[in-house]
Amino acid sequence: MAGNRFGSHFRITTFGESHGPALGVVIDGVRPGMRFDTGAIQKELDRRRPGQSTLTTPRREPDTVEVLSGVFEGKTTGMPICMIVRNIDQRPMAYEKIKTLFRPGHAGYTYLAKYGIADYRGGGRSSGRETVARVAAGALAKAYLAARGIEIIGHTVEVAGIRAQEFDPSVIEQNPLRCADRQAAEEMGRAVAAARDEGDSVGGIVAVHVRNVPAGLGEPVFDKLTADLAHALMSIGAVKGVEFGNGFAAARLRGSENNDPIFKDPSSGRIRTRTNRAGGIAGGISNGEEIIMRIAVKPTSSIRKEQETTTVDGDAAHISVKGRHDPCICPRIVPVAESMVALTLMDHLTRQRMLRGSGRNAGRRDMLALIDHDMAILKELRKQIAAAVGKRTRKV
Ligand SMILES: Cc1cc2nc3c(=O)[nH]c(=O)nc-3n(C[C@H](O)[C@H](O)[C@H](O)COP(=O)(O)O)c2cc1C
Repeated sequence: MAGNRFGSHFRITTFGESHGPALGVVIDGVRPGMRFDTGAIQKELDRRRPGQSTLTTPRREPDTVEVLSGVFEGKTTGMPICMIVRNIDQRPMAYEKIKTLFRPGHAGYTYLAKYGIADYRGGGRSSGRETVARVAAGALAKAYLAARGIEIIGHTVEVAGIRAQEFDPSVIEQNPLRCADRQAAEEMGRAVAAARDEGDSVGGIVAVHVRNVPAGLGEPVFDKLTADLAHALMSIGAVKGVEFGNGFAAARLRGSENNDPIFKDPSSGRIRTRTNRAGGIAGGISNGEEIIMRIAVKPTSSIRKEQETTTVDGDAAHISVKGRHDPCICPRIVPVAESMVALTLMDHLTRQRMLRGSGRNAGRRDMLALIDHDMAILKELRKQIAAAVGKRTRKV
């Protein structure tokens, strides 16, 4: 009944509300003996933290992670891992004035209709603050995936209709929008600030790319990788759409324009595609190409501009939301989206290991596939480094 769990073999259960004492996560399915780096988890939480710039909510939360179980002498024990983050900077008084009013675009009415009771302070569990638990768990998944060469990059590609034209991953963490195009980030920043100053908000699009995912992840027919990633991403508050590869644009193309031609890569010996319009997934299973997803993020619903609403008793009213809110949610959604993608991939890697590990010699075959995969990455890396060395030598 309750929807507070995600994943089947690598599974998280989250708990906590915006104005409760703490938010937290219990992770099940972590193998024993894996290195556990609290610093790596804190680093990801710091990326999601409120108050990072004038373009995000000024709520001041240190978001310090506390590990309660499942870790001993810096390694996982195979027991459930529980992590919490305490709420420090709650201001429930900010919600006192509007506690009997529904916020348009927020979840007050639907929570009340469903449960018959709703925590109005910061939206309770419907608050964006709920995602802190996802990021703590996602950081763990990300670290394990990174150790296998799997890299997840999230970035804002559009805000208020302004689109990024360049992709320079080195600038993503250097601007408050988390955009890979420095110039577009500046324009986006001005648009967010203008909307904020008018008591309004803006939406945008966030992309997530995943490199070096082995072919074979995804469980047709109901747990296709596309289906589970969409589930993961659509479960984030304010996300209103998900597309993979060409996405909705594919509906306007011909087969010859949308298909990815297939070839055998002589350098790696792998079957690959010349283009990647499918976004790295075919038939619900990863094909070894980069996985490319984009999510549509709506403009923040809590705005100072006056809007029509009702009281909880149905009386006509007007509301102006004056609390501390993100004028654009995109930059803060980036680490959340990366986390949900990491959790989904971790779950599917675990499922694939179990599937392939059941037959005779399958464990060894699995190992060989992993080694082949790693060798292909190393070969590609070698090629890139050799090319860079060549360039430098020519200059000298
Ligand atoms: C990281 C993050 C931060 C958010 N910040 C705010 C905010 O400051 N104010 C707000 O009204 N909604 C914020 N939201 C969005 C609400 O959580 C969301 O709109 C609400 O739960 C209603 O759900 P829906 O938009 O998916 O229908 C945030 C969401 C995320 C993921």
